[in-house]
Amino acid sequence: MIRVGIVGAGIWGRMHARAYAQNPLVELVAICDLDLHRAHELAGKYGASQVFRSIDAMLELPLDGISVVTPDNAHTEIVIKAARKGIHVLVEKPLATTLEECHAMIEAAETAGVYLMVDWHNRWNPPFYYAWKSIQAGELGDVRYIYHRLSDTTYVPTQMLPWASQSSVMWFLGSHALDTTCWLMGKKPTQVFCQKRKGVLTKLGVDTPDLYITQVSFEGGALAVIENAWILPQESPTLIDHKCEILGEKGAIYLDPTHHRMYAQYSAQTSRGFPRPAYPDMIITPEIYEKQMGFAVESIAHFVDCIKNHTPPLATGQDGLLNTRLILAAEQSAETGLAVTLD
Ligand SMILES: NC(=O)c1ccc[n+]([C@@H]2O[C@H](COP(=O)([O-])OP(=O)(O)OC[C@H]3O[C@@H](n4cnc5c(N)ncnc54)[C@H](O)[C@@H]3O)[C@@H](O)[C@H]2O)c1
Repeated sequence: MIRVGIVGAGIWGRMHARAYAQNPLVELVAICDLDLHRAHELAGKYGASQVFRSIDAMLELPLDGISVVTPDNAHTEIVIKAARKGIHVLVEKPLATTLEECHAMIEAAETAGVYLMVDWHNRWNPPFYYAWKSIQAGELGDVRYIYHRLSDTTYVPTQMLPWASQSSVMWFLGSHALDTTCWLMGKKPTQVFCQKRKGVLTKLGVDTPDLYITQVSFEGGALAVIENAWILPQESPTLIDHKCEILGEKGAIYLDPTHHRMYAQYSAQTSRGFPRPAYPDMIITPEIYEKQMGFAVESIAHFVDCIKNHTPPLATGQDGLLNTRLILAAEQSAETGLAVTLD
């Protein structure tokens, strides 16, 4: 059995716990959270026998892997300490919010010879995986342009994430969109130009930008435009709005993972999207006969398989470093009004 611990028992930590608990290869051993009550609750629900407030105490256990599911700015110390103990790490996106921290984590993992996987789960998202396979097979020829929109309703920054004002839609969603775009494009990004706008969320009491429009140039002249907003109306039929268009010299692919209407329900239960959305999630974390399915589970299962089979993960610390570099360049560009050239 692969012995696993989780640090961070919040919204997404619960998802990790459930994914591990239902994985027959895994023994979910321990949960750590600064909020001990949360950790106890999660451990009780998913059968972890040990609970910790301190990461140091948890890392004394003989663990094979840990998930780091703490807020964006609280990944680094935990990742480095776990790596130094010889424990493989699955860290939530973004890897870190500074390049120095990314380098330190990568170095710690390399020195210890452990895997450092970033949870870029859209690489397991069925439509994106199919697009990637088609591109790999040359069906689109040279990819010239990608448009990628990933946005949330105001529910996410105003009600879901208590730390939204210390983060941004760029870190929360832009990181996903940038990673998936670079992975699909398969080319080195060379330049970033970005504009951001503020105001709507500030008025709602959350001091963070409303939206970012980011243009990325790639080697060979290909372009991507990435749109991330945190101000979609809560009346929207889904919490997330995810769209992608890929134009190649020989073909195009259009992805609509959220508004596909695979399932649409209009009733008192879905009025204005509450308590349930009119178009429920069918691919991220759907629940089928009380089992959690979906691509968010698949990326976590991949981490377990990597440990078991001694194979490196498909989404690495280097991918995390590139992503943080792009986001920092986008922020710099948005502040200065100038394009930022990447080394
Ligand atoms: N892959 C995805 O689609 C996805 C979705 C949601 C969140 N996330 C990422 O997951 C991470 C967590 O997000 P969330 O929404 O679960 O946040 P959250 O605020 O709901 O939970 C974070 C938990 O971490 C705990 N914590 C903070 N610092 C800690 C520390 N040093 N040691 C132990 N516990 C600590 C907090 O007490 C809290 O319980 C973030 O990096 C976020 O970007 C990813």
